[in-house]
Amino acid sequence: MTGRRDGPLMRNTTQSLRGSRIVIAIAIGVLLGCVFAFLFPRGLFASNSPIQSHPIAKSNIQVVSSPCESSEHVNMLKSEFISVSEKNAELKKEIRELTEKLQLAEQRKDDAQKPVLVLGEPHKAGVFGTVKGSRTSPSVIADETVNPRLAKILEKVAVKRELIVTLANLNVKEMVEVWFTNIKRVGIPNYLVIALDEEIANFCQTNNVPVYKRDPEEGIDSIARSGGNHAVSALKFRILREFLQLGYSVLLSDVDIVYLQNPFGYLYRDSDVESMTDGHDNTTAYGYDDVFDEPSMGWARYAHTMRMWVYNSGFFYIRPTIPSIELLDRVAGRLSREPNSWDQAVFNEELFFPSHPGYDGLHASRRTMDFYLFMNSKVLFKTVRKDPNLSKLKPVIIHVNYHPDKLPRMEAIVEYYVNGKQDALKSFPDGSN
Ligand SMILES: *[C@@H]1O[C@H](CO)[C@@H](O)[C@H](O)[C@H]1NC(C)=O
Ligand SMILES: *[C@@H]1O[C@H](CO)[C@@H](O)[C@H](O)[C@H]1NC(C)=O
Repeated sequence: MTGRRDGPLMRNTTQSLRGSRIVIAIAIGVLLGCVFAFLFPRGLFASNSPIQSHPIAKSNIQVVSSPCESSEHVNMLKSEFISVSEKNAELKKEIRELTEKLQLAEQRKDDAQKPVLVLGEPHKAGVFGTVKGSRTSPSVIADETVNPRLAKILEKVAVKRELIVTLANLNVKEMVEVWFTNIKRVGIPNYLVIALDEEIANFCQTNNVPVYKRDPEEGIDSIARSGGNHAVSALKFRILREFLQLGYSVLLSDVDIVYLQNPFGYLYRDSDVESMTDGHDNTTAYGYDDVFDEPSMGWARYAHTMRMWVYNSGFFYIRPTIPSIELLDRVAGRLSREPNSWDQAVFNEELFFPSHPGYDGLHASRRTMDFYLFMNSKVLFKTVRKDPNLSKLKPVIIHVNYHPDKLPRMEAIVEYYVNGKQDALKSFPDGSN
């Protein structure tokens, strides 16, 4: 900054003083003497204000002329001094403005350090009723180096770069069998079991089920193993990330799901996450205004709240986009940091809580699946099986998520919907006892 101030001043002086060097030296000496002796007893730079320095510079000249002999050189120097002083004032103003800008930049430093992605080009808004915000993010560029072995498997298994994926170990062998038997019956070719142990990998291979056995040496798996249960539920989201990075859309599926139609014929594919709901009717599934009543508030006793039953983290379609991958990272990160958290609660909190002071919310687009087509077991056992119209409809999948007796209910669903046994669902209670 000093350089900036001094530079023009020196340039200016040399430009105009082309006369004899002795004269210059004398003139400068005289001038400085006059200035210091008569006008700046308290120091030349006592005042920083450009507004003050200007008139002082002018008054300089009149005083300077009296003790010093007038000559053309001195006059030249006087006018030169005025112009230099003016330049100085301008420079000081410039410096003050720059300082202000610097301070502003300091204030914004925190924000500037956070990368902000602005999507797309600016557009003019269209006429009333025709504008639509973007909800469909672009797919990431596929990166095969993330997991070349999985990339090879997916090349063979996926159809149009999408597939059903489940995680399984030996504990859920019977359910996995019902799971893949119905997938095969419906004729879905693009599905894959991620085997968490050797036995389930062998079981899948024996049954001609596409299987991907994790390499126990792979970093995140060993972390999961040493980290206990919660790290294992984080593992699901960590593994899913690799599928997305490889450029595939994944329909993540628990094993307690019966496939009755091919779900890929019923997806919208317009959102980062498209998920089945735990809701059981239009309001609980798709959202409603839940009015909270506080009579003591009198006139303002009603407070309106936004409510919705959570998304089911055991069945969702996730596209390979940056918001999707951010979601997986955030969920996996929290599951490994918060030992008592439940993955479905975390999944929903990350998806739905907006940004607020101290928190940057995720900006992922979401779509709730039709709760009759992608049906949970509460809808089936509380409503559908008792309704003569609804019970005639064929869902796409049924998830036995609301009941602990999963295997017998899965088998009953197959009896009812596949084998046409009308009373197959009758013996079960609505809920669990
Ligand atoms: C639920 O919503 C669907 C369409 O969104 C509509 O056709 C149906 O009538 C609604 N049902 C009830 C009970 O409101
Ligand atoms: C079933 O559908 C018929 C015809 O649309 C209707 O008249 C009847 O009320 C419905 N029954 C129930 C229980 O919703």
